[in-house]
Amino acid sequence: MTRSSRYPLPSQATTPYATALTRHAKRDTVNLMVPGHGASPDGLAHELAAFIGPQALALDVPPLIPGIDAGPESPLASATRLAADAWGARRTWFLANGASQANRMAALAVAGLSGGDTIVAQRSAHSSFTDGVLLGDLLPHFVFPSIDTDRGINHGVTPAALEAALQEATEVGAPLGAVYVISPSYFGAVADVAGLAGVAHAHGVPLVVDGAWGSHFGFHPELPESPTRLGADLTVSSTHKLGGSLTQSAMLHLSDGPFAEALEPLVERAYMMTQTTSASALLLGSLDVARHALVHGTAQIGETIETVEAFRERLRADGRLPIISDGFEMYSDIVAADPLRVSIDVSATGLSGHAVRDRLSAENGIFLELSTATAIVAFVGPGKHPDLGRFGDALLALADAASTGSETPDFPELPRPGRMLIRPRLAYFGRHEIVPASEAVGRVSADSLAAYPPGIPNVVPGEEITAETVAFLQTVAASPIGYVRGALDPAVTHFRVLAD
Ligand SMILES: Cc1ncc(COP(=O)(O)O)c(C=O)c1O
Repeated sequence: MTRSSRYPLPSQATTPYATALTRHAKRDTVNLMVPGHGASPDGLAHELAAFIGPQALALDVPPLIPGIDAGPESPLASATRLAADAWGARRTWFLANGASQANRMAALAVAGLSGGDTIVAQRSAHSSFTDGVLLGDLLPHFVFPSIDTDRGINHGVTPAALEAALQEATEVGAPLGAVYVISPSYFGAVADVAGLAGVAHAHGVPLVVDGAWGSHFGFHPELPESPTRLGADLTVSSTHKLGGSLTQSAMLHLSDGPFAEALEPLVERAYMMTQTTSASALLLGSLDVARHALVHGTAQIGETIETVEAFRERLRADGRLPIISDGFEMYSDIVAADPLRVSIDVSATGLSGHAVRDRLSAENGIFLELSTATAIVAFVGPGKHPDLGRFGDALLALADAASTGSETPDFPELPRPGRMLIRPRLAYFGRHEIVPASEAVGRVSADSLAAYPPGIPNVVPGEEITAETVAFLQTVAASPIGYVRGALDPAVTHFRVLAD
């Protein structure tokens, strides 16, 4: 149990908000308010009811209804308290705009702390975090994750690397405000969150963990622990990813750590600034139901872990398609792997990971979460049992038919970022011009550009564009399996820069 609230915590066996919505949906009501579909399938709403089902309409209740979400003792408030309790947080916010909203909230919140405005941040941050840096006018000081250069995959940050980055920032006189890291990674690599929290706290700053891909953590003894229980002060959770709620629903958790008192009102303000005033009851209700399912689903989660491990064993026995997470022990930043993910090196098929993903969806109806130049990653939801036999058969058939000659070219070494010449926010909102690549060298970038693989931003607003970076971006862009996110054109011939 976490900090006692002024209000009693209902039992984890209940779903207060979802139950209140369901009860309301069954009432005989006259709806003279929004939404205009009137919560029933008559009239023009029959098309929508045919599309998503009448129950979805009936549950699509607008905000501020007494007995549902109005007031501090409402069923919605109880549901958020239950979620905080389930994830080990002091307080949890239910979000309707994904973990992207949670990242922006976290950045805005730490920007309001009385300490400094420098955020020591993992360079491979999601774009929503960069948006938060711009919104909160933070000054990032980057720490690079470890990189699997053979496969173009980025992992996490060790406490030692974080310590070095914090010392470096301190030495140049940067006033420290917070630390931001990602765990787990796309590939399921889990960082030493407790160690990272210890380092951040020793420097007097809070730790924000982007745990977007780990919302299921902590709900089975064989799953890694939730960052909220390991010392993270704020944990970003993309609950819809692997937590079982509807797409777009997410949470931000505040832990009961040394910064909780200061952060709580700041997070609340950031929530008010970023949450829609009409958050979907379906999305928020799905968070309540997903929490209940995770809390009570330990046995089913255990079965999924076993099923997924059996699938990995099948590939190991075949031997042609290595399980990437089997090599995680080579990286000092990785302390565990998410057992619900299967990361596979598909080089032996002679196809890129992207081509394998496309073939599997088009020819076999198998849809994968992620592909890279050399790999694919399959995600299995907790408590789910998709047909991994069909997946294995299709994958091994591709290995059987392997074309000769790999499609996966070598990528040049990642360039060092240019100097941060101006605050990112000033560069982003300043007067811009678009110039050819040859004229961009030495100028200040107004955009964030990241070449995939490995997907680490190569330049962010405020940084100098170097000749090395331009060459790297253009080389990756020219590869049949590479692309540059944020580029003005696919070949990266032009850059948006700050006007002189
Ligand atoms: C590390 C990370 N953080 C945050 C997000 C944003 O999540 P959402 O799609 O829920 O907004 C993503 C999305 O993929 C992500 O990979």
